[in-house]
Amino acid sequence: MHKAKTIWLTGLSGSGKTTLANSLQLEFQQLNVQNFILDGDIVRLGLNKDLGFSEHDRAENLRRVAEVAKILNSAGITVIAAFISPLEKDREMVKNIIGLTNFFEVYVNTALVICEQRDPKGLYKKARSGEIQQFTGVSALYEPPINPNITVDTDKISVDGATAHIFKQFQNFSNLQS
Ligand code: ADX
Repeated sequence: MHKAKTIWLTGLSGSGKTTLANSLQLEFQQLNVQNFILDGDIVRLGLNKDLGFSEHDRAENLRRVAEVAKILNSAGITVIAAFISPLEKDREMVKNIIGLTNFFEVYVNTALVICEQRDPKGLYKKARSGEIQQFTGVSALYEPPINPNITVDTDKISVDGATAHIFKQFQNFSNLQS
């Protein structure tokens, strides 16, 4: 049995992080691997409902989530985390909290124009009209990861294909880092 680790999905709002988190969860369930999804939209309703989207608040959001992921990992629970986590420095912080050998970074690379076309929550529209400020990709920065474990180009690969790819690479990573 391998040590539990964290798969960290980073990408724009609407890039497909939650969809991938859900389909990855099914893979773990099939192998009876205890797992838990930490998702920005859910965590921000409870644990982090005091936080907004300034640089400071995003960093604090991610710091707390990383601490939770670390606790879950130490309890033997694999974590699938889906957060925009737009800044390299904050992802570095997360990696240091969770631990270098326990952190598997996946860049969910979906072009802004596609995310904006999808606009599943209508937030891009609100961001463009100025109703929402500091919206990632529109009025706040997204820095693509410099050296992720994997990049998933969602325009070239299906959800099933991406899930299988991430899962396989994560298993290799776990074997190497166990
Ligand atoms: S993060 O930047 O701190 O990592 P997180 O993943 O927790 O963000 O939350 C992102 C979600 O919050 C988005 O998918 C969207 O539904 C919502 N949201 C609301 N306002 C913003 C904003 N200004 N920028 C980005 N996402 C926002």
